[in-house]
Amino acid sequence: MNLKSFIRDIPDFPSKGIIFKDITPLLKDPAAMKLAMDALLDLVGNQKIDKVVGMESRGFFFGPLLALNLNAGFVPVRKPDKLPAEKISVIYDLEYGTDTLEIHKDAIQKGDKVLIHDDVLATGGTAKATCELVERLGGEIVQCNFLMVLDFLNGEEKLRAYEIRTLIHY
Ligand code: PRP
Ligand code: MG
Repeated sequence: MNLKSFIRDIPDFPSKGIIFKDITPLLKDPAAMKLAMDALLDLVGNQKIDKVVGMESRGFFFGPLLALNLNAGFVPVRKPDKLPAEKISVIYDLEYGTDTLEIHKDAIQKGDKVLIHDDVLATGGTAKATCELVERLGGEIVQCNFLMVLDFLNGEEKLRAYEIRTLIHY
């Protein structure tokens, strides 16, 4: 079974000229989901993980599955004004303008070994901002893993300080 065959191209979404990589065909197929989950777990190997941090929204598909299988907790990083308790924020640059991500202050204990997970690594802005949040709370980032990476956007450049692992390259 080839995971790429469960990811479809949607031209001109969300805007003209963008080819969106749609993973919903993969999500609705239990065998493909299991294959992807097991492969993501293989990337981590036997490294000890205390918390898996996933970014809203598409980091929530596999993040909790990975956490359960690693016997780790799951921590959501969310878009602004979604988290209810005490939190910290990071503002990061987009091509035009800025965006914000937030995490609860009590989500990470100092010294926690953290796996960052998201569906896709593009420019790296989202992952870099998430790493910053985790490190400000004293977490140690063991690995950032992604289902897909868009190699032509050079996101790995921004994340040179971290171990980056990915299943599917475009
Ligand atoms: C997408 C994707 C990653 C991020 C990657 O999320 O799910 O989180 O972009 O891009 P970057 O590497 O350039 O930061 P998006 O913000 O579109 O939101 P979603 O997950 O809620 O769909
Ligand atoms: Mg996302």
